Amino acid sequence: MIVLGIETSCDETSAAVLVDGQVKSNIISSQLVHQQYGGIVPELASRAHQRLIIPVVNQALSVAQVRKDQLEGVAVTYGPGLMGALLVGLSFAKALAYGLKIPFVGINHMEAHMYSNFINEPKPNYPFLCLIVSGGHTQLVLVREPLHHQLLGETLDDAAGEAYDKVAKMLGLGFPGGPIIDKLAVEGNPEYVRFPRSFLEPDSYDFSFSGIKTSVLYWLRDHNLLMQGDHSPLSPTSGSPWRAGEQATHQLQDLCASFQAAVVDVLIKKTLLAVENLHVKDVAIAGGVSANSELRRRLQIASNEYGFRLFIPEFQYCTDNGAMIAQLGWMKLQRGIKSDFDLNAIPNLNIT
Ligand code: KG4
Ligand code: ZN
Repeated sequence: MIVLGIETSCDETSAAVLVDGQVKSNIISSQLVHQQYGGIVPELASRAHQRLIIPVVNQALSVAQVRKDQLEGVAVTYGPGLMGALLVGLSFAKALAYGLKIPFVGINHMEAHMYSNFINEPKPNYPFLCLIVSGGHTQLVLVREPLHHQLLGETLDDAAGEAYDKVAKMLGLGFPGGPIIDKLAVEGNPEYVRFPRSFLEPDSYDFSFSGIKTSVLYWLRDHNLLMQGDHSPLSPTSGSPWRAGEQATHQLQDLCASFQAAVVDVLIKKTLLAVENLHVKDVAIAGGVSANSELRRRLQIASNEYGFRLFIPEFQYCTDNGAMIAQLGWMKLQRGIKSDFDLNAIPNLNIT
């Protein structure tokens, strides 16, 4: 079966072709227009998706050496995400499927993140635990059997990636902040500042990251280091409260490492709580923050200690991508699951 996957829920326009479960292409066009605003501007995202969707789909087909008339199904994200952005992909996918007289299936973006762990070998066995950590969500899910999930817990305030992005903004580091903080943190001292970890109730699988973020804000304010605007703290602009030079670089690295240690501590603690309580043997991570080097390193250590198998998607399948949409679409279409053409976009779609 040849399936086209389309993803336009946020600021990545992506399309992928899957042939008999194998990814033949995965084209991702990241919209750089948002960087100057320090976050995603929904209207600009919709317009960029409109401009990019046809070239991105054409490139995915051409790299996979598949013609449109060979497609046997179209899978597309219908939520959660930005309404306007979702509508571009959904309308395009419906029109394409209708024109080609092939089935189309709407995909839950967060569920697709989980199934990004099924793109390559080895694949997790059921039941497995999945920690989904992205810019908009932080969820711990038990996947009991194919396409059957139980949400164990989720963030009560900011998502982990959102906390990274907001802290990066306070530090004047640009957007998206996760990869930049991750890189700086590698050289830093995680004990430099002990930011508070919020674990909520002892047996709760829920998360909270806004306290860590606010503590960073207060620390920077108290030390006169809060960045205004989008200057890099390390460039000697007249407005920068940071002294340029080696000392400032070290301090920035130490702050990033301290913030990252707090976020990763919380993610690890909740994941291990579920591992112990539910006796799961396979643990997967997914979403943009699963690209984080410290989270990967600490989970690898935990997997040896606790004796579970750890599954981490390849980097290109961690952040938003069409391949994970095609993967879950293929699993659904194979089981005869498809959507009606009146399916609408659902910006706050939950995991079911
Ligand atoms: O899954 P994703 O691409 O989009 C959403 O569905 O939200 O995740 C994007 C998020 C952003 O917040 C970004 O800062 C974060 O993933 N991210 C990282 C890293 N790479 C991306 N966070 C921490 N460390 C990274 N290496
Ligand atoms: Zn995502």
